[in-house]
Amino acid sequence: MNRSLLLLLALLPGVAAPADYVGAETCKACHPLAYEAWRHGPHARAIDSLPEARRKDARCTTCHAPDLEKGQDGVSCETCHGAGLVYAQAYVMRDPELARAVGLAEPGEKTCAACHTESTPSLGPFEYAKKLPLIEHGGDRAGRKNAEQAPRTDAPSRVPR
Ligand code: HEC
Ligand code: HEC
Ligand code: HEC
Ligand code: HEC
Repeated sequence: MNRSLLLLLALLPGVAAPADYVGAETCKACHPLAYEAWRHGPHARAIDSLPEARRKDARCTTCHAPDLEKGQDGVSCETCHGAGLVYAQAYVMRDPELARAVGLAEPGEKTCAACHTESTPSLGPFEYAKKLPLIEHGGDRAGRKNAEQAPRTDAPSRVPR
């Protein structure tokens, strides 16, 4: 990894710790199709399923809105991908190694298992291979699918390098 760049990041005034959240709207600027897929999926509105009285109840928010105190509703981009303040900048994002070094997580089966447990209300056990396509928002497949639904059909799923 590029250590001098990392050091520079750490020394820059105003650059806060990687634990800082920027919010889905910030990701949307560069990942508009991922954002649309997420917004219309189950996670963005996960807090809405809770009865009013439970929306601040940690027994429910741990899964339905785990980053509520950081200003994130529902299960946000950063719940799965990690807090984005440092990595969500174009020059960092284009360098996968650097992005991971400053907080970009690699969500996978284990990420889901933290919330999709045996005790969660579900008709059957959580099967990653079957559930992942239901929240597809990354690849071209999602891009094309969303392009049919989203008003901005010309929007790229990613900003060009
Ligand atoms: C300023 C533009 C910009 C913003 C804001 C941004 N990204 Fe990115 N992101 C990029 C670029 C550029 C890439 C690299 C895509 C490529 O060229 O393959 C990328 C790649 C990614 C990848 C794939 C990384 C990899 O190496 O596998 C993920 C995941 C991602 N972004 C998530 C997010 C999340 C979550 C947010 C909000 C917290 C966010 N991005 C905000 C520009 C941005
Ligand atoms: C361990 C994580 C976890 C906790 C804690 C949790 N939930 Fe959930 N909840 C889930 C998951 C995951 C689903 C979706 C299950 C599925 O459909 O496969 C869900 C689904 C639901 C649904 C159904 C939503 C729908 O539209 O069908 C309701 C209602 C709900 N939870 C309420 C609650 C309440 C109230 C609490 C607190 C008392 C709570 N949950 C605590 C993970 C959790
Ligand atoms: C429930 C967890 C979860 C949430 C919420 C989530 N993602 Fe993802 N994201 C993933 C997983 C898992 C993958 C990898 C999918 C795969 O392996 O095909 C991924 C992939 C991506 C990729 C593509 C990486 C690539 O290599 O193609 C981008 C970009 C991305 N997410 C951005 C976002 C943005 C922006 C948001 C919010 C608007 C978001 N994600 C919300 C779990 C999540
Ligand atoms: C922080 C907790 C959390 C994580 C992590 C999480 N989910 Fe969820 N997920 C939920 C909750 C809560 C719901 C229920 C949303 C609702 O309807 O209120 C849900 C609903 C879903 C649903 C719709 C119900 C169903 O089972 O068909 C799918 C699909 C899903 N999640 C897939 C995934 C996948 C794939 C991952 C991992 C990449 C993942 N989730 C990670 C909390 C989480």
